[in-house]
Formats: sequence, structure tokens, C-alpha cells
Amino acid sequence: MNQLDFAGRHAVVTGGATGLGFGIAQRLVASGGSVTLWDRDEAAANQAAHSLGDTAFALKVDVSQQPSVAKAVAATLAQVPRIDALVNSAGITGPNARLWDYPVDDWRQVMDININGVFLCCREVVAQMRKQGSGGGGGSGYGRIVNIASVAGKDGNPNASAYSASKAAVIGLTKSLGKELADTGIRVNCVTPAAVKTAIFDQMTPEHIAFMLSKIPMGRFGTVEEVAAMVGWLCTEDCSFSTGAVFDLSGGRSTY
Ligand SMILES: NC(=O)c1ccc[n+]([C@@H]2O[C@H](COP(=O)([O-])OP(=O)(O)OC[C@H]3O[C@@H](n4cnc5c(N)ncnc54)[C@H](O)[C@@H]3O)[C@@H](O)[C@H]2O)c1
Repeated sequence: MNQLDFAGRHAVVTGGATGLGFGIAQRLVASGGSVTLWDRDEAAANQAAHSLGDTAFALKVDVSQQPSVAKAVAATLAQVPRIDALVNSAGITGPNARLWDYPVDDWRQVMDININGVFLCCREVVAQMRKQGSGGGGGSGYGRIVNIASVAGKDGNPNASAYSASKAAVIGLTKSLGKELADTGIRVNCVTPAAVKTAIFDQMTPEHIAFMLSKIPMGRFGTVEEVAAMVGWLCTEDCSFSTGAVFDLSGGRSTY
């Protein structure tokens, strides 16, 4: 494992109680930083933070609710003076079904969490990042934002129209926000992982999981550590000349 430099920095990781978010938080703590895990599963977030040690905090947050996100920013800043990085990992897949059979309430929930949640967290945290002193990277303000999109947002997976559309929207939001903040010290990027075995698999059919594996040229799932390695670097000061970019993590599936 390479040593990343996140010393003295603080990251907010949404969906940090488990899966990719937790793996990313682990990597950032191992890189010398501190983290606040924002998750709607309060018990799991508390347990996760406890396992990371005394530089990790947990907050119950529903990223799809603006008042909850605004309250979480204030509560985080009551514990630490700045938010150097925001990793938007909270997400759900929604059920697997053809679009014409897709339950309307499930469609709305996927959009509420996967894209509206990313919008709300970016909106509230960017306001803080723009005020923070420059810590490198040029311009005014400082911050690193990493949105967890998906290959589904690039390729479009059948039986996952809500998820694919929400992740394509995350890619679009990343490109817009990256350009809006390009003359500041804030960098905004996203990653597009192919399938990685986490608890999110419980939300999908075995057929859909087999379909996703069949599309990966490396013939295997990605690992949480592989995602954390790339996202961890995107959270550091070293990521200075990339913004509004889409970083591939798909074992050769989506190389465009
Ligand atoms: N695992 C994969 O195969 C894969 C591939 C590509 C992209 N992704 C994306 O990566 C992200 C993380 O996925 P994962 O595999 O770690 O999933 P996961 O189910 O293991 O973890 C998701 C976390 O998000 C939290 N969460 C869900 N809704 C929330 C809300 N409204 N507010 C706050 N927290 C909420 C959950 O409680 C959970 O802790 C998701 O955005 C997912 O779409 C995952």
C-alpha cells in the first residue's frame, strides 16, 4: 500500500458506515487524517467510527434531506475547524426491473438519494470549502470532492434505469461543479467503479450481479481497497490539476 499524505486533514464521508465509504474512511485515517462518517444508519456509523479510533466521528444524516445535511455540516464544524474533503458515497441501487415496470416510488427514492443527495451535500459543503484558507492547489478556498458514480452511469445497465440515470447525473454534476470551482482551490472529481462485493449486492438480483461480472474484462469484481486507493489519492493535495474528471475503476469495462 502506498503512503498517501492526508496528514492533518479532515474528510466527510457519506455512506461511511459500511462498504466503499468505510473502506475510503479507513484509508484516509491510515493516511494521517480524521473523518466524520455521515450515514442514515446511526448504529452502524457509530460502530464504524469506533473501529477507526479516536480520529473518527459519526453523525446520523439523511443525505436526501436538506435540513439534515445543513445540520450535519454545523455539527461537523463544531468538532473540527475545516472540511478538507467530501466523499459522496451514500447510495442505493433500487430494484432491478424493466423501465416500464419500474415502481414510481422506487425511481424517486433512487434519485433522491443518489443524485439529490450528492447535490445537497456538495451545496452545503462547498459553501464551507470556499471560505477556507488555501491549503495548496491554487486560487481561493480549499477542498477535494469525490463523488462515487458508477460504470452504470457511463454504459447504462439494463434492468437498472433509475440507478444508471442517477449515476449519469452524478457524472454531469461533477463536470459542472468542477468547472464552476476551477479558479478556486477546490477540486471536484468522480469515480466510476464496476461491481465491488459489498452489502449493496443484497439489493440486486443474482442475475443482475452475474450480468455485471460478465461485462468486466478482468473477469473479477473490484475490491474495496482498490476503490479506496484511487479515491484516497483524489482527496489529497497532490490531486491539483484534475477537476470535473471521471476516473475509471472498472477492470477494463469502461475505458472511455
Ligand atoms: N459496490 C458496488 O458494486 C458499487 C459499484 C459502483 C458504484 N457504487 C456506488 O458506491 C457507493 C457506495 O456503495 P457501497 O457498495 O459501499 O454500498 P453499501 O450499501 O455497502 O453502503 C452504502 C451506505 O450508504 C448509506 N446510505 C444509504 N442511503 C443513505 C442516505 N439517504 N443518507 C445517508 N446514508 C445513506 C447506507 O446506510 C450504507 O451505509 C454507492 O453510491 C454506490 O452506488 C457501488
